[in-house]
Amino acid sequence: MSSRRKDNYYLALRQIAKVANSDLSTRRIFNSVAKSAAKAVGANGCRISFLDAQKEYLIDVGAHGLSDFYLKKAPLEARKSIPEVLNGEVVYIADATKDERIQHTQIAKAQRISSILAAPITEKGEVSGEIRLYTHDLHQFSEGDKNFLLAAANLSAALLAKDELQRLLGSGYKGLQGQSKLPQLPATSLRPTEFAHPSEEEFARLLDFYQIEWLYEPRSFPLRWENGGIVEMFTPDFYLPEFDLYIELTTLKQGLVTEKHRKVRRLKELYPEANIKLLNKNDFLRLLAKYGYGSLGGAKVPGIDRILFTHNQIQRRVKALARQISRDYEGEKLVLVGVLKGIVCFMTDLMQHLSLPVSVDFMAISYYGEGKSQLVKITKDLDDSITGRHVLMVEDIVDTGMTLNYVLKYLLAHEPASLRVCTLLDKRARRLVDVPLDYVGFEIPDEFIVGYGLDYRGEYRNLPFIGTFHPELAEEG
Ligand code: IMP
Ligand code: MG
Repeated sequence: MSSRRKDNYYLALRQIAKVANSDLSTRRIFNSVAKSAAKAVGANGCRISFLDAQKEYLIDVGAHGLSDFYLKKAPLEARKSIPEVLNGEVVYIADATKDERIQHTQIAKAQRISSILAAPITEKGEVSGEIRLYTHDLHQFSEGDKNFLLAAANLSAALLAKDELQRLLGSGYKGLQGQSKLPQLPATSLRPTEFAHPSEEEFARLLDFYQIEWLYEPRSFPLRWENGGIVEMFTPDFYLPEFDLYIELTTLKQGLVTEKHRKVRRLKELYPEANIKLLNKNDFLRLLAKYGYGSLGGAKVPGIDRILFTHNQIQRRVKALARQISRDYEGEKLVLVGVLKGIVCFMTDLMQHLSLPVSVDFMAISYYGEGKSQLVKITKDLDDSITGRHVLMVEDIVDTGMTLNYVLKYLLAHEPASLRVCTLLDKRARRLVDVPLDYVGFEIPDEFIVGYGLDYRGEYRNLPFIGTFHPELAEEG
């Protein structure tokens, strides 16, 4: 290795160490690391990104020598973008404009990106991000360059750890004032702290409340070109990866709304695959009010202090249960039995995902008396006989196990060919009677919950999520 090369590496590391210990913002520190890394190996650009909490997207934390436009293109989908790096390998791409591992080859071409060297950032043996070098001309990187890049990657991991530590300490302080939730890392720590408008911040909090992942201003869409250059772009406010949906809030100045409508129409023409929704001021206020959130509603849904499972988490789990049941009963016919009314949401979702011939039947029961002398009585019996048929008892929640125990005894007396139990929720800590559970959606702690069919005094069944409920909070609100 030439001594000039070595000098370059050394100077770059010295510079990185210096900014790492400065009080610059995290983003500016990473921008500086990117600049030092690019200079050390003679590259034109560098970007440093980390995986979001779901490990689905790479989110940029620092960059050098790349235009804003390149950085604001659609977030890189982790598994589609040079996936070998996420397996821990250093990857060299000789010509990015022709390589199928590059997600946005068009943009790479426009940005004059030719060769790429990418190294994983690892924390405690797990890949948590990437550092990439770009050159304008076709370029070969040396062994020394690769080793240097890995060193820069290690330093980046250490810098992020330092940033997280500071945030944890910071939020610990807030925690004393009543905010107990620790931030989800690293996604939240990479989020912008500055929104262009308070309504955007409010919207972000609403999304957080429902545990919906979001990215702020993730991408700019070119709308108009002149002489080969982009003269008009549009940057939607939010992107929700889970729904593949862009959202533009138009609460700012109603006078600009017509202009925004025009831009969104143009965007839909040019990018028909982009799913975008405009939320105007009324839509937005209605949305906040509907969930009792924000300026109109005061608190969230009164009485609910924590969402245990979002609509999407429930849907994913229900589908997985249905797949498992369909496999286990392959070639058979199945009778699903549910006890009204808590079962309505779970039953309707579950049965739609079963790939078997299925029939459904319901019972209703009521409870009499108090405590030990409580009696269960069937107030609505099954419509059809289950004798000799395969029966799956579908439950919303098993708490003490007494209800299920009673119903199972009743069903067994009718001599089905087989009898198994599927419950969405298992509050195991409270079990008094041991009942066999064959399929369980989620185990939950000993807390009273409502939503997705479960009620408190007949209400809250319609909530599309499952949350912990405190009646005293509901009465206050
Ligand atoms: P178990 O007989 O104690 O297992 O109670 C089962 C029944 O109690 C369920 O079918 C629900 O109707 C009700 N239940 C138990 N826990 C909860 C809860 O946290 N929220 C709402 N209903 C519940
Ligand atoms: Mg029930």
